[in-house]
Amino acid sequence: MEVVGAPGTTASVSFTAPAGSSNLWVRIAGLGYENKASVSVNSSGSWISLNNTNCVFDAPASSLNGMGGPLNTLSFSVPGLRINPGRVTLTFRFNVSDYVSIGYRVLAVNVLNAAGTKLLSDTKPVLTLAGSSKYLASDIAAGAVLWTNAPLTLGWTGAPIQAKCSDCHATDGSDLKFFGFSDVVIIARSQFHGLTSAQGKQIAAFIRNGSEQALGTPWDPPYQPGPGQAERPYAEWAAGAGLKWVAPADSNTWDYAFSNGIVQFTFTNTLNMRDIPVATPLPVWNEWLPRMSPLESFGTNFQPMVDQFNQMAAQTNAATISTMMRDWQASFSDWVVNNSSGRTSTNLSAQTAYWSSVRWMTIRTWELMHTHRLEGQAQAMFSFPVDPHSWPNNLVFLSSPHFTLPEQGHILGDGTPLSWSYRSHQWYWTMLVLSDSNHRREGASPIDWPYLLAFSTVPATYGVDSSAQSVLALEKSAESGTGDPYTWDNAFFGWAITRTEFLDTYGQTMWKNYDPSYRDTIIRAFMQAYTGQIYSLGRDYFINVDLEVQDGETDNTPGPPGGGPWIKEHGTMMARMKQDGVAQDIIETMRTLGEYLWPSADWSQF
Ligand code: HEC
Repeated sequence: MEVVGAPGTTASVSFTAPAGSSNLWVRIAGLGYENKASVSVNSSGSWISLNNTNCVFDAPASSLNGMGGPLNTLSFSVPGLRINPGRVTLTFRFNVSDYVSIGYRVLAVNVLNAAGTKLLSDTKPVLTLAGSSKYLASDIAAGAVLWTNAPLTLGWTGAPIQAKCSDCHATDGSDLKFFGFSDVVIIARSQFHGLTSAQGKQIAAFIRNGSEQALGTPWDPPYQPGPGQAERPYAEWAAGAGLKWVAPADSNTWDYAFSNGIVQFTFTNTLNMRDIPVATPLPVWNEWLPRMSPLESFGTNFQPMVDQFNQMAAQTNAATISTMMRDWQASFSDWVVNNSSGRTSTNLSAQTAYWSSVRWMTIRTWELMHTHRLEGQAQAMFSFPVDPHSWPNNLVFLSSPHFTLPEQGHILGDGTPLSWSYRSHQWYWTMLVLSDSNHRREGASPIDWPYLLAFSTVPATYGVDSSAQSVLALEKSAESGTGDPYTWDNAFFGWAITRTEFLDTYGQTMWKNYDPSYRDTIIRAFMQAYTGQIYSLGRDYFINVDLEVQDGETDNTPGPPGGGPWIKEHGTMMARMKQDGVAQDIIETMRTLGEYLWPSADWSQF
């Protein structure tokens, strides 16, 4: 059920509450701030405004700030909202707009008994896309003109903006069709931009007439990994596997990462990240979109990026486009040097302007890859063997809040460090799904591994397991340094010796829901592959690439605190493992490795 439109818009649903009904449970997408929604029972006229105080969130939202936190879809009960057995009509109201959002979507409704058990069977949300009337050719034509030319405002009666629909969305509007935005919401959004409902209908007719299939939904994250994604036709991949494939818990990821349940890591293999479900929902399409057109914020200063994009969009040859994409990204990087003050600013408009410029580059990349059907053509874009899905640039990575916004007091959700770091993790994981580097990389592209690794532990910082994702991030980083034909002169990007952080900083939380013996099985298997690789490369390799391996180069005292030279890191990990009760044979493996790499340090204390 869509509750979209001007503030005050309502929508209702009726059902029969069985005996024993006690209170309400709902799943809602798009509650980006508190008190955005109110609900009332049986048109009683009394409304309960939903917020983080009166709603009880299911995991993991309970640990991730609920409304205003980084999760787009939230499941929660409302203990204060009594549901009596019998026929019930629930009315939801959209209370107030932040001038970004115009509403939310109720995906599921249920009632709980006093013990907290759900009493109704689950139904799948059904999306009604089209309006009731047929689309006239004249409306489709008028809609096309409005899409690229209609003068708009921000907010129903707000200030005029220069941007047109096509400046922030796919140039041909195909994103709205592909991701299943309904006529109702297209009309409502047109009105939000100062157009009439009749004009909104014309735009909806134009969108619906596009050649793209309607495969995604506004609440299913683009590219969400899940079984079968890699085999899907390339043109469907962007729709993702759906929210249903967001793993209920991080540990479920292992059911898909190991074949036949055999716990084994082989860095010469390539784990297919498109198919492995993770507990992190990736950003939904609305989160991909820029909130301002960079041409409007930065003027002609930004024009070169627009011109270069238009030139690329006119090409059909994948190799040509990928070469042009490099130049395009280089122009953008040059532009960033003098225009990125919003990244660290406390001024929210400056933040929106800069962040939107990166988002604009990202959706234009999506447009080239998806709309222009370059997904599937990666082989023509790379000079070495690659998975045909691979995206050729790293703008998705660079669009993370970590690169685009201050950690605190930023424009996303509640503006907290939690929102900033979890969302960064979401974008980094999206990049991993889009391009895992195919055992090769250029500097920090497409993935800057230390960031992917560090941010994979973010959920654990807030009490949500992420050990499987962290170990998989390590596996992928190890893969990317294995079989790589380039000579690496930096252990950070090549075969790093300290890539076992998953045991380190968040030792306790990372594995808290794991059976210790299963945890040890995973750690042991990873350490086996990892130390095998180190011994086969030999100590000299590390001396050549990273001077810190040499004795005497740094402080030779192992052990806490971490965050320092590698010797300290290694010691910290050993101490942490001991504290967590990791099996002694694994500690011994670590000690042997320490003695091999740094013979003059004292490892006997572990
Ligand atoms: C300045 C950039 C910009 C312009 C111009 C713009 N949009 Fe959007 N649009 C966005 C952003 C950002 C969102 C995501 C809003 C959110 O997060 O709820 C969005 C969301 C939408 C949605 C989904 C709304 C929802 O609640 O899910 C529709 C439909 C839409 N836009 C249609 C249009 C139409 C039609 C026009 C022209 C009349 C237009 N947009 C112009 C940036 C823009």
